[in-house]
Order: sequence, then C-alpha cells, then structure tokens
Amino acid sequence: MRWLDERAAERVRAGLRRELRPRASEGEAIDLASNDYLGLTRHPEVIEGAVAAVRRWGAGATGSRLVTGTTAEHELLETELAEFVGAPAGLVFASGYAANLGVVTALAGRGALVVSDAGSHASLVDACRLSRARVEIAPHRDVDAVDRLLARRVEECALVLTDSVFSADGDLAPLRELHRVTRARGAVLVVDEAHGFGVRGTGGRGLVHECGLAGEPDLVITATLSKALGAQGGAVLASERVRAHLIDSARTFIFDTGLAPAAVGAARAALGVLRRDPGLAGRVLDRAADLARIAGVAQPDSAVVSVVLGEAQLAYDAAVACRDRGLSVGCFRPPSVPEGTSRLRLTARADLTPAELDTIATVLGEVLARARGQQTVPA
Ligand SMILES: Cc1ncc(COP(=O)(O)O)c(C=O)c1O
Repeated sequence: MRWLDERAAERVRAGLRRELRPRASEGEAIDLASNDYLGLTRHPEVIEGAVAAVRRWGAGATGSRLVTGTTAEHELLETELAEFVGAPAGLVFASGYAANLGVVTALAGRGALVVSDAGSHASLVDACRLSRARVEIAPHRDVDAVDRLLARRVEECALVLTDSVFSADGDLAPLRELHRVTRARGAVLVVDEAHGFGVRGTGGRGLVHECGLAGEPDLVITATLSKALGAQGGAVLASERVRAHLIDSARTFIFDTGLAPAAVGAARAALGVLRRDPGLAGRVLDRAADLARIAGVAQPDSAVVSVVLGEAQLAYDAAVACRDRGLSVGCFRPPSVPEGTSRLRLTARADLTPAELDTIATVLGEVLARARGQQTVPA
C-alpha cells in the first residue's frame, strides 16, 4: 500500500490534502460553511420533532421500509414535502445522494440516454455512471446543446439532469427553457433542488415552483432534507407513477435502511417552521447579498457566495486564516471545482445578526485583501 503515501504526498504538493477538523460547538465560531441556510438545525421545535420521533419509533428505522414496514411519519413527511413544492407525491431516501442515485438509475438504464449539465452535483455524476445509460455532458447551462443532444438520440427514453441552484457557484439553471426542450423532445427533466429548496420561490418552495413548473408530469424534483431543513435525508417529489416505480425499482430505496425516525421528525418540524415563517427564504437571500457586498463579489441568486481566489493553496490558507479568527468558511478546491478556480465558499444563514455581519466584514476584509495581494494570476 506504499502508493497511498505517494498519492498523499502528491496531494500535499498540490495543496489538495483534506483534513477532518474538530467541529466547534455552537457559538464558538460564526458559521458560513454549513448548509443550515435557515438556521433550523438547532431550532427548539426541530430538536423536539426529532426527540419525539425517536421516543415513538426508536433510534433507527430497523430495515428497509419494504421489509420492516413504513411509519405513518414517513408517509406524512412525503405528503407534506410534495404538497409544499406542488408535486403530486413524494418518497424519502436515507440521503439526497441516495435519492439522486435511486431516481436516475430507476428511470434510465441500458438503452437510455442521460444528458447532464457539466456543473451537476457529484451525486448526479455518480448516478450517471451507475445507470449504464449512454451519458452526454452538456456545457454548463447550455439549453441549445441539450436540445441538440436530445434531437440526435436513437434511444427512446431520455433524462436530462441539472441542479436548480449549482452547488459550487450558486448560479441558477435555466429551468423554463430546459423544460421546454425536454418536453418537445419527449424526455424527462430531473431537477436537484438541494440548494433551491427553502431558498428560492414563494416561501422557499424552490426554483421549480418559482418557474411555474410545479406538478408538471415530465419533471422530477430531488431534494435533500440536510440543508434548508436542517435535518438529514433526501426526497424525490414527482408523480404517483414515478413514486410507485421507485418503490419497485430504485435500489437505493429497496436495499437501504429507511430514513431514521429522528430525521423524519426533525424534517417535518422544520417544514412546519418554514410554512409558518415564509419570510425565512427571503431573509437568507438578503444575508447572502450582505456577504457578497462584504466580499466584493457579484450579487448572488442563492445562499451560496463564491469568492474565487485561484490557486488551491491560496484558498486553503485564506480559509484557515478565517477559521483562526472565528469564521468558519468553506473551501472548494479541485476536483470539486475546475483547476485554478479554488475558492472560499460562503453560505448565508437567515439568522445572521448585525453583530455577526460586522465581525465578518472585519475578518473577511483583511483575509481577502491579503489573499488577493498574493494572487499570481487574477482569478
Ligand atoms: C446539489 C446537491 N445534491 C445532492 C446532495 C447530496 O445530499 P445529501 O447530503 O443529503 O446526501 C448535495 C449535498 O450534499 C448537493 O449539494
């Protein structure tokens, strides 16, 4: 296994070593790294939702829901999520990753075509690989390219995959146009709303809803419960027909232990908070705009504020400098982003306070000025 050390040394030289750092407990650092966009993960009602579900159902789901049975809470969560985004039905998975693998492999197999945006999340990339379909990668946000790939196909069945809000840059997919071409070409559009749910659309109903596409029969939404809802797990929100097909054939549903009761209870409670306070979604976008102003980058369309610095080591050093001063930030380097575009990734939270924004302005202002002064090539 000496090759492992050689690979590790290569990653150190390239500034790409990853480390598992101890996580600060609440209040020790200002959190601009997590995906807890609405600040719900520690909300008393959300915690209580998890605790009550654990008391009733136990710590684990005890098996695949097809084997040990489904709880009423799982089904309620599915109905509530579907109703919220305007889809006819829902099915929850153990994670957003599993939801993406499950839906793509179940809807496209050998003999199908999958067209995926070049910026699609890693879980969609892996889903393409697992599907055994012919896979074409369309340039980022290029609807004409998607149309050409669909038009040229020989396969009857085709899926088009995209994030609604792209995870690295926080930019938006052209969903209306994509849906127009997928429908015209008889394909199905799968939209990953991991970063759109709770942030975009009226009251956080997502970008699909905002674009007026909720409930379209040839559109499938995937979502995670681990970001805006502050819990854990994933969901597919689509027609009853798709739900039934997934129960019969999605391997990550059939052969995976059901979503843990605590996650179900927490997600239901978080959805309740979001329904009661629909202004949460707008507040997270306002705070993202504040962060972008502080960082001197373009105004964002989502909770993700990307500050591109260039070299991996430069971005890493800037992230460490922020952390040393009590600011927890994300750092994206290859292969998460293209070579030469390593960056700080700041995520806004709806509950950032004016005092926290003042500290962020001071720390980020200094760290970014130093990092930008060291750039060899402007990013
Ligand atoms: C766009 C996107 N899709 C899917 C996932 C996977 O979701 P989960 O963390 O629930 O597995 C993530 C993030 O982790 C994501 O950013």
